[in-house]
Amino acid sequence: MSQQHADSPFLAACRAEPHHRTPVWFMRQAGRSLPEYRAVRGTGSILDAIADANLAAEITLQPVRRYGVDAAILYSDIVVPAHAVGFGVEVHPGIGPVVDRPFENTADLQRLRPLEPEEDTPHVLETVRRVVADGSVPLIGFAGAPFTVASYLIEGKPSRTYGRTKALMLGDPGLWHALLDRLVDMALASLRSQVANGASAIQLFDSWAGALSPQTYERYVLPFSRRIFEGLADLDVPRIHFGVGTGEILPLMATAGADVIGVDWRVPLDEARRRLGPNAVLQGNLDPAVCLGPAEVVEAEVADILRRNGGHPGHVFNLGHGVLPETDPAILERVVEQVHAHPNGS
Ligand code: CP3
Repeated sequence: MSQQHADSPFLAACRAEPHHRTPVWFMRQAGRSLPEYRAVRGTGSILDAIADANLAAEITLQPVRRYGVDAAILYSDIVVPAHAVGFGVEVHPGIGPVVDRPFENTADLQRLRPLEPEEDTPHVLETVRRVVADGSVPLIGFAGAPFTVASYLIEGKPSRTYGRTKALMLGDPGLWHALLDRLVDMALASLRSQVANGASAIQLFDSWAGALSPQTYERYVLPFSRRIFEGLADLDVPRIHFGVGTGEILPLMATAGADVIGVDWRVPLDEARRRLGPNAVLQGNLDPAVCLGPAEVVEAEVADILRRNGGHPGHVFNLGHGVLPETDPAILERVVEQVHAHPNGS
């Protein structure tokens, strides 16, 4: 491991090592709730903002400066690799990823050639290098997990039911397998290139895996996510595995091989450790909507999460999902202060 962040509370917690403070960062910390983000972001596609390494590095660092969080998360998006190989995906403001010609059949596999990060996403790697050169906190690189990325490519737009995705998965397992194979390779190439350029940790976002039954998850999704964690095992960086609504599949997710399991707000941390075992390293799990409430309520919820963690050194404080755009940044500043006042592992 590089010496650059030898005393990082975030990296310590990922390894379940005690530290004088509990680390905290927020999913979607770089984004719409920050006035300084809106000031520099402009009105074009987020994919254009991501392609501008100078801008993307600045946006990545804004929440570090504002909140004093213990890690930066790369300003990018889970559809960037598919976009970079020319699949034809855009990100519409207020909607999310939208695909012109959704994935339907074997011929569509041609539209997902292997990702060559240095050629296809040089701007992403330049952003990584710039943030790493800033050096203030470890940078978390990330990728979308095969299931969650596949859901966007197949549905063509955000979905509540994942009906088309499940129909393809169950109705044509051979094609599903071929599609997920490609998405595994794409995520692996992207994650390895982010680490090679200096990212100190990675997170695999399987945001929508909670839409699946445990049996379906185990059979059609878990083996692919496992290949990603195994394919990163030699890199010596903490690997975080996250999804929303995953209470019923947490024990399965934990077998994919990540070092840290993200937990949303539906499963209290003490209950998550009952499901995963006492040594589980957890990330979470304040309900992002709580942050829209009065400061005293937020404070009580934060205290409850820390109490339920019970002094375990393997806890990275976070929200249970992304910051909501209408969140008052001052509330998140207070959350960071409160969490930092709490030693990790006592
Ligand atoms: O601060 C961070 O977390 C870093 C940046 C980040 C973005 N997307 C930037 C973004 C990360 C880690 C993501 C990952 C991502 N993208 C996920 C997994 C995380 C999660 O929330 O579960 C998913 C599912 C996506 C797909 C996606 N991209 C959605 C659902 C949206 C929201 C659409 C909207 O506007 O509400 C996007 C767009 C997006 N990605 C925005 C940001 C800051 C907002 C739009 C913009 O600024 O143009």
